[in-house]
Amino acid sequence: MASAKLLAAFLAALAALLAAGGGAGARELRLEMPSAAEMIVDDGMPLIHMLRPLLGSGGRLGLRARVPCDSWRFAVETNSLRDWRTIPARCERYVGNYMMGGHYRSDSRAVIDEAIAYAEGLQLAGEGKEVWVFDIDETTLSNLPYYAKHGFGVEPYNRTLFTAYVMDASAPALPETKRLYDRLLALGIKPVILTGRREDKREATAKNLAAAGYAGYEKLLLKPQDVRVHAVEFKSGERKKLEDAGYVIVGNIGDQWSDLLGAPEGARTFKLPDPMYYIG
Ligand SMILES: *[C@@H]1O[C@H](CO)[C@@H](O)[C@H](O)[C@H]1NC(C)=O
Ligand SMILES: [Mg+2]
Repeated sequence: MASAKLLAAFLAALAALLAAGGGAGARELRLEMPSAAEMIVDDGMPLIHMLRPLLGSGGRLGLRARVPCDSWRFAVETNSLRDWRTIPARCERYVGNYMMGGHYRSDSRAVIDEAIAYAEGLQLAGEGKEVWVFDIDETTLSNLPYYAKHGFGVEPYNRTLFTAYVMDASAPALPETKRLYDRLLALGIKPVILTGRREDKREATAKNLAAAGYAGYEKLLLKPQDVRVHAVEFKSGERKKLEDAGYVIVGNIGDQWSDLLGAPEGARTFKLPDPMYYIG
């Protein structure tokens, strides 16, 4: 049987690795064997990678039922898993720990560090036409105070409750995005804020952005009140209008793929993490 051969080969390679690496390095990497029950996943297929780190997001925290929550999150962040309405109930604790612990912030930092390095390397034309498009929710502003009270996405979206939260204009900045925003202003790249929030939230949104320290943006573009159009179509249409008006979109950042897909996307796109909800 091919899989048994593969398993035998893997075990042999593992034995060789452990024999060769018996020094300090091998002891620091703490590994454990899975239990017998964990060794068989769907359809009787044996696990190829039998060793899991004891610590970190790949550990027991993520392993529930069929798909470990970190694998679920990977599928979400790569836009492989789409059109989901709520996070899996079994992943509430995992997503909560991800969002409230350091992991969400360090993932955001990795994206922002790259965005800043890219922006600093740009040659600007000197006519002040370069802009950078920012999404709002889970990009410039963090709605974590709301989602922490509502199961981190395990509860279905409640328009009434979320609207009340938006109208409160109390969302904090996502600090990493704020760092990019400030750097772009200093470089002479103008922020354009483009959101799926509708026009009736303009005043509260502008107030919230100001309170969170976002000043000096070129435009704040919201969705018209009564237009029924999906995010990709609306946002790519607005980016097209920007280009038609002579702006050069050097960068585009959002937490949803629907912030980034659809021509013109912008010269480079940056995807922030968001395992709490999906907007198509
Ligand atoms: C939204 O939340 C309110 C307050 O808890 C509740 O009364 C209402 O039924 C909820 N709406 C939906 C669609 O779940
Ligand atoms: Mg968003």
